[in-house]
Amino acid sequence: MAEEVQRGLQDVVALESRICFIDGKEGRLIYRGYDIRALAEHATFEEVAYLLWYGRLPTAGQLTELRGRLASLRALPAGLVRELEALPADAEPMDVLRTAVSALAVFEPEETNPGPSSIGGAQRLTAALPTVLGMFHRRRTGLPALGARPELSHAGYLLYALLDREPTELESRALDVALILHADHELNASTFAARVTASTLSDLYSAVTSAVGTLKGPLHGGANERVMEMLDEIRTVDRVEEVVRGKLSRHERVMGFGHRVYKVEDPRATILRGWSRRVGEANGDLHYYHLLEKVVEVVHREKGLYPNLDLYSGSVYSLLGIPHDLFTPVFAASRVVGWTAHVLEEYDDLRLIRPTAAYVGPTDLAYVPIAQRS
Ligand code: CMC
Repeated sequence: MAEEVQRGLQDVVALESRICFIDGKEGRLIYRGYDIRALAEHATFEEVAYLLWYGRLPTAGQLTELRGRLASLRALPAGLVRELEALPADAEPMDVLRTAVSALAVFEPEETNPGPSSIGGAQRLTAALPTVLGMFHRRRTGLPALGARPELSHAGYLLYALLDREPTELESRALDVALILHADHELNASTFAARVTASTLSDLYSAVTSAVGTLKGPLHGGANERVMEMLDEIRTVDRVEEVVRGKLSRHERVMGFGHRVYKVEDPRATILRGWSRRVGEANGDLHYYHLLEKVVEVVHREKGLYPNLDLYSGSVYSLLGIPHDLFTPVFAASRVVGWTAHVLEEYDDLRLIRPTAAYVGPTDLAYVPIAQRS
């Protein structure tokens, strides 16, 4: 009798974790015991990073220390800078990011011992990703070289690195909240990939390289970029019905909707919807916001699907001036915290992750010599 296969490992409980809990029926997301709504309201990204890595909220002193450490770890080794400069300026940003994470391990092998000391690598990678993105983007657009700016938060530095201008307080906070919302999400595909790699006792940089490659796919991290392509195709509110219904009738997926775990609205989408409106109002531009509200109405009516985080993140990033092809790398600049928290948890209670397959091919074919095959 054939074994029962859970396609896509849907509903399979693969491991125990203390990092993140998703209540898909109630639409709740919890990091280390704290509701995402409270964290997005009151905490900063660095505070959330501390929480995910160490399992508790930091004191004021611990937070200042972490902020200082992350700021001091932003500069890249000269060898990696040369490697990045050798990449084509029109390379895909996620390919650049994946290459940079992998190459950083070569230049800093002392950080690559699997185990509790990998927290050093976790912080190094978190600090370095905005620099990698900033250097790459500035080179391809001819912006001036990146300065150190240790006084800026992770979100502020990321915006400055990409835009070469001082972000306003509202812009910095909007990105800070978006980064908090993206920081972890239980066993999503990229985190699972990171844990599978770590479970072989491979190093944290290899685990994050696996994760970046997995996040790149449009069914995972790449969805927000596709949402913006859809909005550009729709153009005006009166065209939403036609375009969305057209997609659904062709059995195309409407990006930014549906979720493997949430059966109601993704709480991150609810929070980002507010920020999409707030940043739109500050810019005097609610074009995307109005389009999205109509898209939500049509998709829910036609298909019963709820929006996920990706529906709104693209509009917030666009209003902040972040180019569309950097949306997924910005996701990575936050999720790296979740990936590395999970890798550390994996090292702490290591068990090789190695499922089995239900073999459905033949088993008794007779070998035919090559000269006799047609
Ligand atoms: N548009 C249209 N139909 C959809 C969509 C969608 N976005 N999502 C699910 N469906 C339909 C799907 O066609 C299927 O219908 P039917 O039963 O008639 O064939 C049904 O809903 C179940 O879909 P599924 O693919 O079995 O469900 P899943 O759990 O594998 O899908 C998903 C989860 C996120 C891959 C899917 O909802 C999707 O492709 N969404 C669009 C991409 C997207 O927005 N991704 C971002 C996810 S949130 C960020 C993150 O955590 O990475």
